[in-house]
Amino acid sequence: MTRGKFITFEGGEGAGKSTQVALLAERLRAAGLATVITREPGGTPLGESIRALVLDAEPEHVTELLLFAAARAEHVAKVIRPALAHGTWVVSDRFVDSTRVYQGVLGGVSSALIAAVEAGSVAPTFPDLTVILDIPAGEGQRRTEARGALSRFDAADADYHERLRQAFRDIARAEPQRCLVIDGTLKPDAIADHVWRAVEQRLLAGAR
Ligand SMILES: Nc1ncnc2c1ncn2[C@@H]1O[C@H](COP(=O)(O)OP(=O)(O)OP(=O)(O)O)[C@@H](O)[C@H]1O
Ligand SMILES: [Mg+2]
Repeated sequence: MTRGKFITFEGGEGAGKSTQVALLAERLRAAGLATVITREPGGTPLGESIRALVLDAEPEHVTELLLFAAARAEHVAKVIRPALAHGTWVVSDRFVDSTRVYQGVLGGVSSALIAAVEAGSVAPTFPDLTVILDIPAGEGQRRTEARGALSRFDAADADYHERLRQAFRDIARAEPQRCLVIDGTLKPDAIADHVWRAVEQRLLAGAR
């Protein structure tokens, strides 16, 4: 059986990840491809419990790294790998790049520890395609304010967002074969069209 493909969406809060995950899954299913949607942190009952724990507490960055890695190890072993082996496509709302950016670049956890944890929890199941939704500082917050996540966006937030944005772009630059950066300020349908073109060119050509 042909292995399924693994696609992840990354970017800051409110970048449009969940919107695009749903749109892509719709298109994949319309193309006759069995598809599962999943998310991180979470993805399994244990993972969802860890997600709730972390969101309730304010753990150290290294604590967060290890808890998320535990959740991810379960997610990869119990959901992602079996689905791919079964020929099902997997679309995940965040994955390993969020750890590299939030706990690594922004949290200051060493890249050696991040890499060791990846090797133990993810390898060799890295995404076939990672879509990074790139939005300017303030835009994500403007979008999510409607959901009640209200707080003043200040200079420190702008600086943090700029570092986050740069960290995702650096990953894309280092791994252009896996990653694709898309302007997240485009209309949702235009973004979905870009994503679909990449899926056709990178993953479907030759696979059908
Ligand atoms: N391309 C877009 N242009 C404008 N608004 C958008 C776009 N995509 C999504 N939105 C809106 O922005 C908000 C955030 O979108 P969404 O939930 O998809 O982002 P997210 O990256 O999953 O956010 P979070 O990190 O909070 O989970 C939603 O209200 C959504 O309808
Ligand atoms: Mg979301």
